Amino acid sequence: MNFDLTEDQIMIQQTAREFAEAEIAPTAVERDKKGEFPTEIIKKMAELGFMGMMVSPEYDGAGMDTVSYALAMMEISRVDASVGVIMSVNNSLVCSGLEKYGSDYIKETFLKPLARGEKLGAFALSEPEAGSDATQQKTYAEKDGDHWILNGIKNWITNGQSADYYLVMAQTDKEKRHKGITCFIVEKGMPGFEHGVKEDKLGIRSSDTCSLTFTNVRVPEKNIVWEVGKGFNFSMNILNGGRYGIASQACGIAQASLDASLKYAKERKAFNTEIINHQAIQFKLSEMAVKVEAAKLLTLQAAALRDAGKEFVKQAAMAKLYSSKVAVECALEAIQIHGGYGYVREYLVERYLRDAKITEIYEGTSEIQKIVIARELMKEFAA
Ligand code: CAA
Repeated sequence: MNFDLTEDQIMIQQTAREFAEAEIAPTAVERDKKGEFPTEIIKKMAELGFMGMMVSPEYDGAGMDTVSYALAMMEISRVDASVGVIMSVNNSLVCSGLEKYGSDYIKETFLKPLARGEKLGAFALSEPEAGSDATQQKTYAEKDGDHWILNGIKNWITNGQSADYYLVMAQTDKEKRHKGITCFIVEKGMPGFEHGVKEDKLGIRSSDTCSLTFTNVRVPEKNIVWEVGKGFNFSMNILNGGRYGIASQACGIAQASLDASLKYAKERKAFNTEIINHQAIQFKLSEMAVKVEAAKLLTLQAAALRDAGKEFVKQAAMAKLYSSKVAVECALEAIQIHGGYGYVREYLVERYLRDAKITEIYEGTSEIQKIVIARELMKEFAA
């Protein structure tokens, strides 16, 4: 077993780290306070190829492997998890889905500008009454010649206001449960398509999350991804892949919590010495370090399995389940180490906790990850 990164992977990790520190860190606190979308940062990330990292150069992507993507996601999210989720949705949910399942027309028209980062994507599965129970789609589409008429509401949509192209799941045959769900590409500006106000969130406040409403939106037939009736399978397959993105985001937050705690513990004095010299603090730092390392190993294992063309569903779900738990635990511990300073906005660690919590909720809650893992275990047991 070889744990060494390749030269290319190290280079991408380094580039992402330097970019995050130079270009993202200076505005992270202010954007979090104001809930401001990082438009200029996303443009610069596009120039680095970070918005279509795993897309083949044939479709204007950077053609990097999944491990590189995970490493870059960790570095970006270590500095700002809001930027991390914007990147993750565009890369793992939208670009990966279109590259794998899109027609030539879709790849040429939508994937290429998304991979270049000139356009931004969003993934719209969740609804007011269909979150974890995603088969219960109320949004529906009816065929009208060479178009489909789309009606319904989506919510909790990341990049909801800023995206240009939206992958929208809708019922096209109510009798067929999940086999009657289809994925449509809806473009910003299509008549009848509107987004709601930005949600006032606990964390990842610099990313925009909102609801979407569709009122008789006419979507061309050629905007269907894969096939009519394949939208649920599409979503499941894509979410399997999205999980190492969110796992990487969580690893980044956990690493940031550890970094901040180490720095503070070396500076802060109590009982006549820096607090890092107290065993109580050393034990906390050690526990955090083990968890961060284990979370990264699980996440990179899932990414490496995907790169090797092997089954990665169980490992990706495990990586997301564990890394998101670790992110919350490390952020909480970082606040404890900082004491009162950890509880105020002047120090960064309170943001880490606010940002960490969502990693246990979106792209499949921790409870859903456990279902996915258990199902994979049962398949293995039956084999
Ligand atoms: N991978 C691939 N296919 C899967 C799958 C998986 N992990 N889980 C289920 N499927 C397939 C099944 O094989 C089946 O397909 P066929 O009929 O073709 O065989 C189909 O899905 C339906 O399976 P089930 O009847 O078993 O489905 P279910 O109703 O029990 O639900 C679930 C399964 C895993 C709980 C699913 O509903 C689920 O993943 N829910 C969570 C949804 C989710 O993650 N939402 C996040 C929203 S996106 C987001 O957060 C993005 C963002 O903006 C950040």
